[in-house]
Amino acid sequence: MIVSLSELLPRARAKGYAIGAFNTTNLEITKAIIEAAVEAKSSVIIQTSEKAIDYAGLNPLRALVLEMAASVKVPVVLHLDHGRTFQVAKQCLEAGYSSVMVDASRMPFRDNVYTMRKTVAYARKFKASVEGELGPIAGQEDYVHSAKAYKTDPEHARMFADQSEVDALAVSVGLAHGLKLKEEKLDLKLLKQISEVVEIPLVLHGASKGATEKEIKQAIGYGVAKINIDTALRVAWSSALRAFFAAKENKDAYDPRTILTVGTQAVKQQVLRHMKLFGSVGKK
Ligand code: G3H
Ligand code: ZN
Repeated sequence: MIVSLSELLPRARAKGYAIGAFNTTNLEITKAIIEAAVEAKSSVIIQTSEKAIDYAGLNPLRALVLEMAASVKVPVVLHLDHGRTFQVAKQCLEAGYSSVMVDASRMPFRDNVYTMRKTVAYARKFKASVEGELGPIAGQEDYVHSAKAYKTDPEHARMFADQSEVDALAVSVGLAHGLKLKEEKLDLKLLKQISEVVEIPLVLHGASKGATEKEIKQAIGYGVAKINIDTALRVAWSSALRAFFAAKENKDAYDPRTILTVGTQAVKQQVLRHMKLFGSVGKK
C-alpha cells in the first residue's frame, strides 16, 4: 500500500518512534526492504537518489517499488532522496512517487524556501509529501556532496518550516553521509533545541554510523521521525558477497540468483535491525 510521509510521520513523532528510510537501487535491495517491512509489520520508506534513477531508470525503479508495495499490507512511501532540482522532483511525482525531497540546502535561505514552496505546491496536486533540508549535511550521498557540515540553526529551522510548508525537515546535527568521518558526532543538544521550536517531523540523514544506539533513541525523543539509512545497507551487501566468494565451496558459484540472494538476505537483516532500533516494529 503506497502512502505519503504525511500519513506516517506526524503520528510517529507524536508517539515517539521513527520510520526507517532505506535507499534502493535495484530489485534485490527493494525486495529485502519490503520483506523486512512485512516481517516486522512496520511502515517503511523506500527512497531512490538521482544516481539510483540514472542507474536503473526512473520507470523501471518506480514500477519495481510500486508493484512490490501494492502486493503487501504494510504502508510504503516511495520517496525521492536528495533530488537536486524542482525538475527532478516533478518527474518523480508524475511517475508516481508519493514523496520527494529537494535538497536546496546549498542555496541561500530565501532561494531554498522558494524552491520548496514551488515543490510543495506541485506535490499537493498528487497528494504527495515534500522533505526539505536546512544544512547542508557533510559527506557524500551519490551526486550530493558537502566537504563541511553547516549545523542547522534552530531559529532558521523554525522560519524555514513555517515559510516553506514542507512536511518534514532534514537537519544538519553532526552526522555525515557515507563512511564515518573523523569529526562526526551527533549533537543532541542542538537537536533538542530545534525540536523545541519546529513542530513538523525532523529527518536524520547520515544515520548509518556516527551515533550509538542510545543516541539514536534519544534523537527520536527529540522529534526525529524519519531516519535515512544507505551506507549500512551497501556495507552489509558487499561484505556478505565478499564473504560468500571467500568460502572455498563458493569459489566457482556462477548463478546470479544464488549469489545475489546472499546480498538480499544481508540487507534484509540490516533493515530489520534498524526497524527494531527505531521502534517501528508493529507500527503500520
Ligand atoms: O540520504 C541518505 C542518507 O542520509 C544516508 O546516510 O550514508 O549514513 O547511510 P548514510
Ligand atoms: Zn541524506
